[in-house]
Amino acid sequence: MPPTAPGTSTETKPLIDRLGLKPGHATIVGLQWGDEGKGKVVDMLAAEFDAVARYNGGANAGHTVVVGDQKYKLHLMPSGILYPGKFNVLGNGVVIDPEQLVSEIVGNRERGLKVDTTNLFISNRAHLVLPYHKAQDQLQEAAYIMPNALDQVVEGIGTTGRGIGPCYADKALRSTAVRMADLQDLNELRHKLHRIVPIKNATLKALSEYTGDTFEPIDADALLEWLKPLAEVLVPHITNTAGLLHRVTAEDKRILFEGANATLLDIDHGTYPYVTSSNCSSLGAHTGTGVPGHQVPNVIGIVKAYQTRVGGGPMPTQLDDATGDRIREVGHEYGTTTGRPRRCGWIDLVALKYTASVSGATALCVMLLDVLADLPELKLCTGYMIDGKPVDEFPACSDDLSKIEPVYETLPGFEGPVDQCRSIAELPENAQNYLKFISDFLGVPVVLASVGPKRDQSAVR
Ligand code: IMP
Repeated sequence: MPPTAPGTSTETKPLIDRLGLKPGHATIVGLQWGDEGKGKVVDMLAAEFDAVARYNGGANAGHTVVVGDQKYKLHLMPSGILYPGKFNVLGNGVVIDPEQLVSEIVGNRERGLKVDTTNLFISNRAHLVLPYHKAQDQLQEAAYIMPNALDQVVEGIGTTGRGIGPCYADKALRSTAVRMADLQDLNELRHKLHRIVPIKNATLKALSEYTGDTFEPIDADALLEWLKPLAEVLVPHITNTAGLLHRVTAEDKRILFEGANATLLDIDHGTYPYVTSSNCSSLGAHTGTGVPGHQVPNVIGIVKAYQTRVGGGPMPTQLDDATGDRIREVGHEYGTTTGRPRRCGWIDLVALKYTASVSGATALCVMLLDVLADLPELKLCTGYMIDGKPVDEFPACSDDLSKIEPVYETLPGFEGPVDQCRSIAELPENAQNYLKFISDFLGVPVVLASVGPKRDQSAVR
């Protein structure tokens, strides 16, 4: 379609309608390896929903939301907190670092945001990430890559070191887990910590001996003392959030489920073992909050206009050249949580077709489109080959993924700036063609293209 003049869009309908969402709840989920820009879309839509619920992950996720001139970095807090009058829920599937959450609660209160027992609800079934989980995460990573008898060179998972894996492992182990509900009875928690901490000390001691790190035993009573002031802030917010969300649903109110991390990092469906430890596809929204799948008719898949990855694991379209560096610099592709530089490359439509179907995407938002402006040509990976033979399924094994030779379709680039475009029709024709190619390949409509970090820098269909 030939472009119309930038900034001429005069749409005033609610965003929900402009995006063509069905009545009812919606899940927002990343379809790549994270950092797609979910926070911005959640933030834009939160105004039109009644509740925002996080369903997975922990402080390994992080997003920056820009409101006016203010930048908010949120790791655990749902983005709905930036809007008055919303219910914000941390569901049972989230793993909560109490120190991080308290610092976000207190920090946001100091910045004038309302965070109280009427707008922040924490699941009594959510698990706690404790300091020993972080220590275990870091030691486990170091231990895995230690030289061994076979002189194998191995790549670690490249975790964020935030204790996510060990916390979910304890959830599965059960006897060593601590849940938010445990903070409500500190006497009982003391007994629990005295059972758990010796087991953790034994694990950490053994790992430290193996890696050559110094081992400092944890003291159960000191841990409890550290937890007490945090519990004081958190306990008033702890409740049965599944029941709350069921009541919200029964009142015909709308819930926005906010996914952290992304579908390719899903423990079951992602690029195992280079994944995180939760169900971060849209499937996790249901186990992670207690709201069944049939009650969520909209799944908004968030896709970056190119591909990035941080941490270990293969990425078939990775560019180790000047174009990759340019994308990293223009797109500020450095982790919000760890500051690590992200690997950058062309958009991978084979991976996206897989994740769009696993997550059941009903609409797509293509983020950071402006970053690709002024590149002479744009490549899109449309096929995978291994040893010269086409691969017709997204590989289950990372070993196979590392052998992929991508097959590319090349489209002409588009000229910037595009940050003033407010509707897809205002984008340069080549940018529109790029979006159309993505949407046709995946069979899912592109309903929004983001052209800058601010809420209004969005070209909506
Ligand atoms: P963990 O979640 O800290 O255990 O890390 C496991 C893998 O997931 C590592 O490769 C991390 O870099 C990656 N990861 C976890 N959360 C995110 C995220 O929000 N964005 C991008 N990568 C992530």
